Amino acid sequence: MGLALLPFFLLLASTIEAQSLFDVTRYGAKPNTDITQAKAKFQASPDAYKAAIRAQDKQKLMDMLTYPTVEETNLKFSFITNSIVKDITSLDSKNFHINLLGCKNVTFQHVTISAPENSPNTDGIHISSSEQINILDSKISTGDDCVSVGDSNKQVTITNVTCGPGHGISVGSLGKYTKEKDVVGVTVKACKLINTTNGVRIKTWPDSAGAFIASDMHFEDIEMQNVSNPVIIDQEYCPWNQCNRKLNFMN
Ligand SMILES: *[C@@H]1O[C@H](CO)[C@@H](O)[C@H](O)[C@H]1NC(C)=O
Ligand SMILES: *[C@@H]1O[C@H](CO)[C@@H](O)[C@H](O)[C@H]1NC(C)=O
Ligand SMILES: *[C@@H]1O[C@H](CO)[C@@H](O)[C@H](O)[C@H]1NC(C)=O
Ligand SMILES: *[C@@H]1O[C@H](CO)[C@@H](O)[C@H](O)[C@H]1NC(C)=O
Repeated sequence: MGLALLPFFLLLASTIEAQSLFDVTRYGAKPNTDITQAKAKFQASPDAYKAAIRAQDKQKLMDMLTYPTVEETNLKFSFITNSIVKDITSLDSKNFHINLLGCKNVTFQHVTISAPENSPNTDGIHISSSEQINILDSKISTGDDCVSVGDSNKQVTITNVTCGPGHGISVGSLGKYTKEKDVVGVTVKACKLINTTNGVRIKTWPDSAGAFIASDMHFEDIEMQNVSNPVIIDQEYCPWNQCNRKLNFMN
């Protein structure tokens, strides 16, 4: 269900300054239920769309319904420096398990992450706008990326991590937003990928929003078993056809 809802919330996230509350219950949504049908009705209605554009109180809207959103992360580390996180387990998150934003010199060691293979958006560890991040000696089984290294990161090292099931280790997606910065220095070393859809990936949007550099990437000593797409470097990453296809290669 989380996957289906994502575009809806991205829309809300971008309409935060607007003025009135959009009531999704008018489209048949009820708390603690699957709102897929309500969402379909909402999308089919131009008035509802306009109302959503005017909606302001994102939090209130989310409180009206209980379901996974991008906000629901098991563990969020924001603007943390010089720290070690070890010997923890994150189980069955509703969305990302662990999210790092704006961190510097943080090490994760002996972390166990587990969610079912078919649980959407349950990325193991997502890293953005951070530097000197180390992920060591860990086991990550999930329904989405094992570790995803997003935009604006420097010096990220992933060593002795076993991933699977899941979607593998990803760098990206990069280049969607103008405020992104370069991604420099990603090392993935002595990792195992078992029963994953992808192995290691670098994904960038076509017609990238700015001129960013993704450089100094190292993948060494990676073992893969039963991996459908072992290595993917995709410079035209375009899920749900959300992009302008004009190519603008990143460095
Ligand atoms: C990084 O963090 C570790 C653990 O807290 C600390 O021991 C180390 O001194 C820090 N390194 C730097 C360069 O600040
Ligand atoms: C790799 O990590 C596992 C825990 O997932 C640990 O038992 C093992 O000792 C680590 N290997 C090395 C070489 O550090
Ligand atoms: C390969 O991995 C998939 C999950 O991605 C799993 O369903 C399948 O049973 C695995 N096959 C083997 C032979 O291990
Ligand atoms: C991979 O999938 C196979 C088949 O489903 C399973 O037997 C095996 O335990 C899985 N391996 C891991 C490390 O999850």
